[in-house]
Amino acid sequence: MFIEIRDYVQEFPGQTPADARPALAAAVQELKRRRRAIILAHNYQLPETQDVADFLGDSLELSRKAAATDAEVIVFCGVHFMAETAKILSPERLVLLPDINAGCPMADMITPDLLRRFRAPYPGLPVVAYVNTSAEVKAEVDICCTSANAVKVINSLDADRLLFIPDRYLAHYVQRHTDKEIIGYRGFCPTHALFTADMVLEAKAAHPEAVAICHPECPPEVVDVADIVASTSGMVKAAAERSESEFILATEWGLGYRLAKENPGKRFYVFPEAACPNMKRITLEKIVASLADNVSEIQLPSDVLVRARQAVERMIAIA
Ligand code: 13P
Ligand code: SF4
Repeated sequence: MFIEIRDYVQEFPGQTPADARPALAAAVQELKRRRRAIILAHNYQLPETQDVADFLGDSLELSRKAAATDAEVIVFCGVHFMAETAKILSPERLVLLPDINAGCPMADMITPDLLRRFRAPYPGLPVVAYVNTSAEVKAEVDICCTSANAVKVINSLDADRLLFIPDRYLAHYVQRHTDKEIIGYRGFCPTHALFTADMVLEAKAAHPEAVAICHPECPPEVVDVADIVASTSGMVKAAAERSESEFILATEWGLGYRLAKENPGKRFYVFPEAACPNMKRITLEKIVASLADNVSEIQLPSDVLVRARQAVERMIAIA
């Protein structure tokens, strides 16, 4: 069932009670100044985390920011593979993930061993990895991509066939926009896979003027009924630039909080069941503990870091 984000935002369990937030937010600011830290947060983070972030973005924007910062400490409010990508691009910085158990089930669907088995029947084919993969897996592939640049990265390859890991739906979406043959792994995002065309059509029937936007991690039947398919940064752009004043968001609901804040005259409808429990693990209290006690430092073996970095940097050079 869809709901306007403004009517939903206080209901999500696990948030810091409103009266406790100001003191914790002040503690975050004080520790951040003392540690010369920057807080990078993904668009799906809890509202309380978005409110203390120095920078909010999608996977690609956050990687770029991590590579460019001169802060001594990066507190990464997102999931494990994103914090690893920050470490890959800023190896000399201390990168902290406030909850080490904030993982990505889609990223966990592929390991170096499963990748070896997947690619065995296709010797010589390049492997493109969605950034939603571990550093160990990135170290084994030719190039990375995010949902914002997947089509561009794949079209840049000097090959007619390629392997794509781990998201079957992103692979399917890119296949619609390239002449190359994509052989996709069968992973998926449990949060986006639950969307159906009926969910979006029902919201559209109730709000016929609204623009329906879906993330390319959604199944093809959802892509078919969406007006726009975009990464979370693409959704931020569309919400700001489109003349329409209502938007249906077929993605994780946290993005709706940012969009409503940045576009006060517009309405955003979200689906509360589309919550990423891992993204929602980060709270103000955990950010304070992270800055106070270095919880939890991301460390990578140097050979993995160097090889993974090549795949990420190839992507950045193209995108
Ligand atoms: P974006 O890069 O579009 O922010 O997506 C990341 C992600 O994990 C989506 O589920
Ligand atoms: Fe992973 Fe899906 Fe959560 Fe994104 S929303 S971090 S792909 S589980």
